[in-house]
Amino acid sequence: MTKRFLRISLILTGLILLFPLQGMADTPLPSISLPEGEGVKCVEPVDDIRRNHMNYLLHQRDKTVYEGIRTEKHSLANCIDCHVQPNEQGVVPAHDDKEHFCNACHEYAAVQIDCFGCHADRPQKFIKRNSQPHALQQQLNEVLMAKEMGAH
Ligand code: HEC
Ligand code: HEC
Ligand code: HEC
Repeated sequence: MTKRFLRISLILTGLILLFPLQGMADTPLPSISLPEGEGVKCVEPVDDIRRNHMNYLLHQRDKTVYEGIRTEKHSLANCIDCHVQPNEQGVVPAHDDKEHFCNACHEYAAVQIDCFGCHADRPQKFIKRNSQPHALQQQLNEVLMAKEMGAH
């Protein structure tokens, strides 16, 4: 009896968890390119990171900003370093580009994030530091100001 009940609850939970994906099944999924290479894997199992990445990121942010604890695992810069790479034409997509790892999915799911107003959307090594000195300087000032005000 209890076993049966357990089984039914498990199936129900499964259905509830899967439900949000149902709508997605009808339309083609966004194409996201994933980092490849031997032994390259995400910082969390894929179904976990897919569902919970926002929580990991926000938790990591609070740890860094409020407690001064810096670790690499859930660092946003770390995600970007691994996930954002040049496309076949050698262009590194920016955060508002369909090809940008985070945006491909968010645009599709109509999610909007403001993170890249302050955080780099491309790995540092691909940001041409001299191309827009003014914009970068301004961005830095804004970040420092926000930090000063503790507005996060
Ligand atoms: C107004 C500017 C601003 C915005 C917008 C912003 N951040 Fe931050 N964030 C900062 C600053 C400043 C720090 C502290 C930087 C440091 O000390 O490394 C930080 C630190 C972090 C960290 C910890 C350090 C790291 O590299 O992982 C994470 C994670 C993070 N932010 C995630 C986010 C996410 C996710 C969003 C969007 C939901 C976001 N931030 C939006 C300014 C911002
Ligand atoms: C060292 C490389 C690496 C880092 C760092 C990394 N990932 Fe991943 N990520 C991957 C790979 C590879 C996959 C494909 C699944 C797998 O093989 O683990 C993946 C899969 C994903 C997926 C699922 C994509 C899909 O197909 O639905 C999301 C979402 C994701 N990562 C977000 C993040 C976030 C957010 C961070 C930072 C907190 C991060 N990743 C850090 C390599 C990385
Ligand atoms: C596999 C698809 C996918 C990928 C790839 C992905 N996201 Fe998301 N993200 C989502 C979905 C779907 C939501 C909305 C979830 C919800 O509303 O419960 C979301 C929500 C978020 C949120 C919370 C937004 C809010 O206002 O609640 C943040 C922050 C975020 N993602 C950051 C990132 C970052 C940074 C990356 C790239 C490193 C990324 N995501 C890559 C699918 C994705």
